[in-house]
Amino acid sequence: MEKCWSLWLIFLALGCQTSFFPTQPHRSLEQYHAKGKNGGISTAHPLASEAGLAVLKSGGNAIDAAVAASLVISVVRPQSTGIGGGGFMLLYDAKSSTSKAYDFRERAPLLATRDMYADSEYFIYKGLKIPKPSINGHLAVGVPGLALGLAQVHRDHGSIPIEKLFTDAIKHAEEGIEVYPQLAEAIENRRGVLVSFAASRKIFLPGDKPLKVGDRLIQKDLGQTLRILQKNGLEDFYTGSIGKKIVDEMESANGLISKDDLKSYKVKTPKPLTGGYQGYQLLTMPPPSSGGVHILQVFNALEPGELESLGVGTTEATHLLTELLKRVFADRAKYLGDPEFVKVPIQGLLSQGYLKQLRNSIDMQKATPAKVLRNPDPYLYESPSTTHLTVVDKVGNVVSTTQTINYSFGSGVVAEGTGIILNNEMDDFSLNQDTPNVYGLMGSEANEIRAKKTMLSSMSPTLVLDSNGKFFLALGSPGGPKIITATLQVLLNVLEHKQSLLDAVRLYRVHHQWMPDYLQVEPFSLTKKRKKRLSLMGHLVKEAGEGFGDVHGIIKSAEGYEAVSDPRSDGLALAY
Ligand code: DON
Repeated sequence: MEKCWSLWLIFLALGCQTSFFPTQPHRSLEQYHAKGKNGGISTAHPLASEAGLAVLKSGGNAIDAAVAASLVISVVRPQSTGIGGGGFMLLYDAKSSTSKAYDFRERAPLLATRDMYADSEYFIYKGLKIPKPSINGHLAVGVPGLALGLAQVHRDHGSIPIEKLFTDAIKHAEEGIEVYPQLAEAIENRRGVLVSFAASRKIFLPGDKPLKVGDRLIQKDLGQTLRILQKNGLEDFYTGSIGKKIVDEMESANGLISKDDLKSYKVKTPKPLTGGYQGYQLLTMPPPSSGGVHILQVFNALEPGELESLGVGTTEATHLLTELLKRVFADRAKYLGDPEFVKVPIQGLLSQGYLKQLRNSIDMQKATPAKVLRNPDPYLYESPSTTHLTVVDKVGNVVSTTQTINYSFGSGVVAEGTGIILNNEMDDFSLNQDTPNVYGLMGSEANEIRAKKTMLSSMSPTLVLDSNGKFFLALGSPGGPKIITATLQVLLNVLEHKQSLLDAVRLYRVHHQWMPDYLQVEPFSLTKKRKKRLSLMGHLVKEAGEGFGDVHGIIKSAEGYEAVSDPRSDGLALAY
């Protein structure tokens, strides 16, 4: 009945030619929106939000809460993230009004080489031929960074002993959680790979049957691993008994990660990238993430008020945004990579002169075709993996962090005896100039594989400060390349169109990533008439139902804070 009403409202709105429309949450809207005086949290799973809120209420700060929530989300969304993965974090310290970035992204192993995937269509494992070695199996794994990242962030800024932050994660691993639809779907989708590795099969396909909605996901080995890390410190992942098990797993299957790789892993603390817009200061993640550069490029290329004057979601506004996206994603493919290995022309890419030219090359009447058409199809590869969480505490410290094992269930490999799923982040390198990655993204020399190099990412944890340098907004999203466009569109909705954070997140989204050359739109996002007009302008418009991100953000309000979790997914926003 409720659904019926929503549909009627949508049709009414379409008839009235209102521009964009809010997504219809499949649960009560309350789950996705919370207000509080003291602080809040938004994550992609209720158990992670609850763990973080409990830490905040017991006197922990935003960093403590983010660590507890990260550990829980690793357990309850094993398809998305985990200590076998990595990520980025932006922090705002209320006392000093300063911000800091942490890069705990995976790195290429010492033995990795540029052409390591060139001649191998299959990863051979115990006589099995597993396709796509940059995605599936031991060769796909980058040296994980999440455990050391959490340890370092906590050492620098945490306020309560880290051991206390493991309790909920251990409980959910050992006692189990109820399998929810997205998890069951992810297991089913990756079944072909998970079944190949005994340690993965045991957890996700017990008795050789994939877990179904309502079953319990029990991760005893992971619980034990977390207990060891709780006792010995997260560093044990790199130099202790857990590290040894990971290296043993690698050696058992010709994987590349060695003891030296783990021992030499370092968390980096680059300076956040900054930009201004209408009095706000935007802080984003610098390379090896690409999202920050491209979000700032779009903001810098637009005249303040320009999109608003065209109207939210009108043909003209959608055309302008699409043309900008095509251009910045073309830059991504050509110039972005690990700045420790290649020169990334950040200044140039963000300069007024460059962006003016880029802006001037847009014909407002027709679409510019992407240079060479290639036809990978990202629809095939959408997956509910990666996760973002945002936390604010009562003194106003903020954490905005995106964490991932890359594709759903990463490489599919669980290191024997640890319960840890290992990432497949190596696929985020460009394998060669003609092969798109799993998200259809193209690349070049700038992002080719080198030992110890960090693969390019789209993860874009973002902070916005007001004109006094005080916290205003923090957000981020999963979604591969759609991380960039989801984060950007929510930012535009708030900063340019002055929408509430909830409306900004609910509004339907569009996506273009240069290659493949088509504009993806959520169903109901554009009226038929507008789609037709965009087609006449030369855009190939495709409707896609899922994968347009899962934004988790918190905004400062007159009363305190508002936390918002994306109604597209099953997260939970809490505040107190
Ligand atoms: O770092 C990146 O850009 C990717 N590994 C993120 C993957 C992702 O968001 C998958 N989620 N849908």
